[in-house]
Amino acid sequence: MKVGVVGAGRIGGGIGQRLGRDGHEVMFSFSRDAGKLEGLAAGVEGGRAGTAREAVEFADAVVFAVPWRTIDAALAEMGPLEDKVVVDTTNQFGAGPGEISAGLSAVEHNARRMPGAALAKAFNTLTAGFQAEVAAGAPGEVAMFYAAEVETADAVADTLVAACGFAPVRIGGWRQAALIEAPRRPGAVYGEAYRPVAAERIAAAALTGDLEAAGRLADELKQAEGER
Ligand SMILES: NC(=O)c1ccc[n+]([C@@H]2O[C@H](COP(=O)([O-])OP(=O)(O)OC[C@H]3O[C@@H](n4cnc5c(N)ncnc54)[C@H](OP(=O)(O)O)[C@@H]3O)[C@@H](O)[C@H]2O)c1
Repeated sequence: MKVGVVGAGRIGGGIGQRLGRDGHEVMFSFSRDAGKLEGLAAGVEGGRAGTAREAVEFADAVVFAVPWRTIDAALAEMGPLEDKVVVDTTNQFGAGPGEISAGLSAVEHNARRMPGAALAKAFNTLTAGFQAEVAAGAPGEVAMFYAAEVETADAVADTLVAACGFAPVRIGGWRQAALIEAPRRPGAVYGEAYRPVAAERIAAAALTGDLEAAGRLADELKQAEGER
């Protein structure tokens, strides 16, 4: 797959490297340091560096990995997203692109700002350091939750998450996405690591629509103390 990474920091840089090693074609973009983009591109076979707009134009799938406060600037540089799949890794920390309306998940808020794009939310629940550790270990031993409303985005998220060493587990669409979004809290999976079997049970509960029951199960099945 051709992947355009927008935001080449701890999350975007790491994911891009892993995807490149897995055989995907990756273009890195959106750093204030062009040398950093070139360095990341040089780290993977066929890696490229470009502007955010070039990365979007190049991509079948865009990995969106910028700080919440930088979303406006990133979207302005990215240009039209019609018919693109965007994998949103962002967490809503600090000031950002407008107030999230009550009842909306952060990814739905972002989706409304990316007309024509098919979004998935992934890679946001676990720290960049932990994601690197998992990628260095045996594949598929730790689950990564993602959310997607439409099949195209679902399939892309599933593929990219697996390419980064995780067992992909779809928690549901935008209604269920709240469970995987910040902050870390009881009744949610954000910041927690799960084995695939446990994650599948939580997702099955969430998909019934009973998010409280899914949250209770998520608390029961938490693996260990310590933020991931
Ligand atoms: N770090 C984590 O553990 C983690 C885990 C899950 C999700 N997330 C989420 O993933 C997203 C990216 O986080 P990150 O930790 O990868 O961030 P980061 O390391 O700070 O990287 C951010 C990227 O955006 C670029 N950027 C371009 N213009 C910028 C500007 N004006 N201000 C700040 N950055 C600018 C940075 O460029 P430069 O190269 O010039 O700095 C960098 O490439 C965030 O929404 C975060 O909440 C982070």
